[in-house]
Amino acid sequence: MSTLSLESPAKVNLTLCVAARRADGYHELESLVARINLCDTISVSLRDDEHWTLACDDPAIPGDERNLVWRAAERLSAHCGVRCGIHLAVKKRIPVGAGLGGGSSNAAATLRLLNRLWHLELADDVLARIGAEVGSDVPLFFHSSPCIIRGRGEIVENVAARLAGGVVLFLPEVYSQTSAVYAAWDRLSAGGGGEAARQPTRPARPPALLALAEVLRRLDDPDRLAPLLFNDLEAAALGTYPALADVAAHLRRALPWAVHMTGSGAAFFCLLADPAGGLPRAQAAAATAPLPVRAVAASFTRGAEDRARRQSF
Ligand code: C5P
Repeated sequence: MSTLSLESPAKVNLTLCVAARRADGYHELESLVARINLCDTISVSLRDDEHWTLACDDPAIPGDERNLVWRAAERLSAHCGVRCGIHLAVKKRIPVGAGLGGGSSNAAATLRLLNRLWHLELADDVLARIGAEVGSDVPLFFHSSPCIIRGRGEIVENVAARLAGGVVLFLPEVYSQTSAVYAAWDRLSAGGGGEAARQPTRPARPPALLALAEVLRRLDDPDRLAPLLFNDLEAAALGTYPALADVAAHLRRALPWAVHMTGSGAAFFCLLADPAGGLPRAQAAAATAPLPVRAVAASFTRGAEDRARRQSF
């Protein structure tokens, strides 16, 4: 049986501006997103029968039709009318509930792989549209990195400039639920106006458009870029998961670098010109955190990763 495999990279939100809750419950946002070389591996193969099966090596993730990989396959199958037996395999390295987009990235990789396995020849923008039905962050994985996402995440604009450096990631043993963090953002913004819900460490940041324009000018200069990054969901996430607030405070005390949260958490990152060089210091800070935190270095990756390879069982 022939198998196709693809690396499925994580993302970090370098900026995340949440504008307003929409009538459909989603939030209008604007975010500069970059992919990093922390990757899961997704594999697909044809089965001899009509059954669908899924193997996932992380027991924290459902190994059935609730898995985003399965849901992506179902959407694609419904879209093009193909229904034949497949086996899906997910090898996880990206932690779940971390704001690193692992599930969405896995769904995007599955769409790419099945597009090839089923000889569909659908264009990336069609796959991205199908992916948006599975999760708001799926479409960005069909674009170059970095890119800007808008709407609920499905409107994606490529950014031509290159990002220098990379990140050290801090991965606390906390699962952050995206919907719970957005609900907390709603409560915070209803209570004290939009600004009250924003990141407490940057109360006076410039209006979103100016902030993003300034960030885009500094993409090649990690030292000057790092202090400009922000995440409007941070206060909501830290309020929802107090243990995360302790981790953030600890990292900010222990490290000389700006510490940012990605997505709705629970991962934090520091943008560095030399992430591998900064790793020992990051690991020392992680080792003294008030709960288990893993530190890893990662670099930014650029175009759509497309390294499918054929293998035989
Ligand atoms: O689209 P996705 O399933 O990844 O979103 C998970 C949850 O995050 C949604 O159910 C919603 O509560 C919240 N969300 C949001 N606004 C967005 C994206 C996600 O409120 N733009």
